Amino acid sequence: MTRSVLVLNGPNLNLLGTRQPEVYGRTTLADVEAMCIETGRTLGLEVACRQSNSEGTLIDWIHEAKGVHAGIVLNAGAYTHTSIAIMDAIASVELPVVEVHLSNIHQREAFRHLSYISKVAVGMICGFGAFGYRIALEALANRIGGGA
Ligand code: DQA
Repeated sequence: MTRSVLVLNGPNLNLLGTRQPEVYGRTTLADVEAMCIETGRTLGLEVACRQSNSEGTLIDWIHEAKGVHAGIVLNAGAYTHTSIAIMDAIASVELPVVEVHLSNIHQREAFRHLSYISKVAVGMICGFGAFGYRIALEALANRIGGGA
């Protein structure tokens, strides 16, 4: 079984570091991705990172992950709260997905309380900022099993 995982970030997360830093912190997406690759190394996981602002592209990448990656860490950004299509893509590929949010979505506006991703994810981590991606990778490594 492959020890490769995909860290997938959705819309507006390319602006991390400068986007509402009081909510999302000052860590950039490049910092997050470097941290994920380094965390992966300690867990015996090969980590590939991708980001898109487009729903269709995210769906295509989820489809392509089947047979290539053993699981996905996903921050779908605002599509979390709207995208039945991303939910269906995850259900279709039958890969373990760990959902991540930098902010605690349950402390925020009511429209952020619903997550379509949570309905098909193994679990969800929110509120820990960029550190949440490390927790998610550890959870995914545990789920995949057969670690280093
Ligand atoms: C987010 C939370 C979403 O509600 C928001 O639309 C985002 C980022 C987070 O990481 O906290 O874009 O997913």
